[in-house]
Amino acid sequence: KRVGVLISGRGSNMLSLIEAAKAPDYPAEIVVVGSNRPDAKGLERAADEGFATFALDHKLYGKDREAFERDLHAMLEQHNVELLVLAGFLRLLTPWFVNQWQGRMINIHPALLPSFPGLHTHERALTEGVRIHGATVHFVTAEMDVGPIIAQGAVPVLDGDNPDTLAARVLAVEHQIYPKALEAVASGKASVDGFRVKIDGAEQ
Ligand code: GRF
Repeated sequence: KRVGVLISGRGSNMLSLIEAAKAPDYPAEIVVVGSNRPDAKGLERAADEGFATFALDHKLYGKDREAFERDLHAMLEQHNVELLVLAGFLRLLTPWFVNQWQGRMINIHPALLPSFPGLHTHERALTEGVRIHGATVHFVTAEMDVGPIIAQGAVPVLDGDNPDTLAARVLAVEHQIYPKALEAVASGKASVDGFRVKIDGAEQ
């Protein structure tokens, strides 16, 4: 499967996918990395690794979200992207865009959904006093941070944690589960089945 990765920042999840995709039998090939922020560190990293990259500065579109998304969609089509992976992509997507990629777009969220959708998940986990926290890979649907769950990874919350120490522990788990989730989706092993994900074979 031809995969496009969208980022907004440092791109450590993108790098974990790039590493995994180097395995000869990996079912996904990353064909382009795009960002809504021209200064995203991850874009440089992707270019250094020899990947095609593009930046579409959403600020140049003002309030016209759909014009931004039409151009984004066109870029992805140019590269014949079949599967879209959001890796720290910090733009809300309209129903039109989500619909174009229905069942073919996945995201990673730094919390165990359905707990803590939205921003500042690590602060909120600490405020709530949860003992287990983690990350979720899910198919993207029109509603933010909701959508059929493909994979989750859990970490303990430790005494003395602050948002940064907790974020680092969760990030390590993100780097493990995202490549596996992408592999499952690209190979067709994981697919959307109503509100749930159907996994062929036993393990998830
Ligand atoms: C990750 O924690 C991801 O879950 C969240 O944003 C962060 C992106 O980090 N949505 P990176 O750009 O992949 O390093």
